[in-house]
Amino acid sequence: MLVLGIETSCDETAVGIVADGRRLLTNIVASQAAVHAQYGGVVPEVASRQHIEAILPVIRAALAEGRCTPSDLDAVAVTAGPGLAGALLVGLNTAKALAFAWSKPLIAVNHLEGHVYANWLSETPPPLPAVALIVSGGHSEIILAEDHGRYRLLGRTRDDAAGEAFDKAARVLGLGFPGGPAIERAARDAGPKAPRLPRAWLGKSNDFSFSGLKSAVMRLAQEGAAPAAAIAAGFQTAVVDVLTAKTARAAAAVGARSVLLSGGVAANGPLRAALAERSPVPLWAPPLDLCTDNGAMIAAAAFYRAESGAAGLDLDVRASWSLA
Ligand code: KG4
Ligand code: ZN
Repeated sequence: MLVLGIETSCDETAVGIVADGRRLLTNIVASQAAVHAQYGGVVPEVASRQHIEAILPVIRAALAEGRCTPSDLDAVAVTAGPGLAGALLVGLNTAKALAFAWSKPLIAVNHLEGHVYANWLSETPPPLPAVALIVSGGHSEIILAEDHGRYRLLGRTRDDAAGEAFDKAARVLGLGFPGGPAIERAARDAGPKAPRLPRAWLGKSNDFSFSGLKSAVMRLAQEGAAPAAAIAAGFQTAVVDVLTAKTARAAAAVGARSVLLSGGVAANGPLRAALAERSPVPLWAPPLDLCTDNGAMIAAAAFYRAESGAAGLDLDVRASWSLA
């Protein structure tokens, strides 16, 4: 089954083509990061306009690079939410038009489920039940995937998402946008003397909170107490510590057979290394280019959603669609 997946929930116009939910034929991503960097963050109206300009060229490029014609495809999948409503609409309406014109079923995919299924685009698929740590610009959740399409929420952030915390910390430290890669780079050059920043353990809860950490970064930066790179290192260590400890504990508690790292923050090297070390069961983490937003993960997730039925052309975006 060959699926074309379209993703426009935030600032990446992305299209991937995947066979049987596992084999990647192509994955084209047009990033708007440089445009939004001027504003220090994603501007929704700008994102929508950029998607409109990029979507058809990206679809053409994906078909060309994947050496497919529309008639080879079995379905068109699209992110229906969660995300920026105006941005989602561009992908959704394009997918509807293509599904109608090409007479293919239209499959609506939850963006977070897409992130989780980036882990299926690998040699061996992870065994279920799995505990997924989904950490992106908009989400930080620990989810139990009992089976395909069966999810239970184990924990979530009570304030900022992990990626949002990276982006805000980077802004305060003058390291640029997007913040995650900038913090990771700065921390690498920081040397051994990083300040110890606070961790919000919230007792035995699987929930996260990053607002106290953000305030601590601001305070240290204002006081000029340490170089920006050292503060970045202290921040990253604190985030990684909390994310890995809670995910490892949750995986042990529910008897998961694998841990799945997903979302843009999953590209973080120290997070990947620490979770590999602390997870009680084998860890899956997508290759770096499949961690951040892409269309291939949407096509992969759609393969496992297909049996639950195609969406109608009255499909609407669900800006705050939760997975569990
Ligand atoms: O999943 P994603 O591409 O978009 C959303 O669905 O939000 O995630 C983007 C987030 C941004 O906050 C970005 O700073 C973060 O992922 N990110 C990272 C790294 N690469 C991207 N955070 C930490 N370390 C990285 N290497
Ligand atoms: Zn995402």
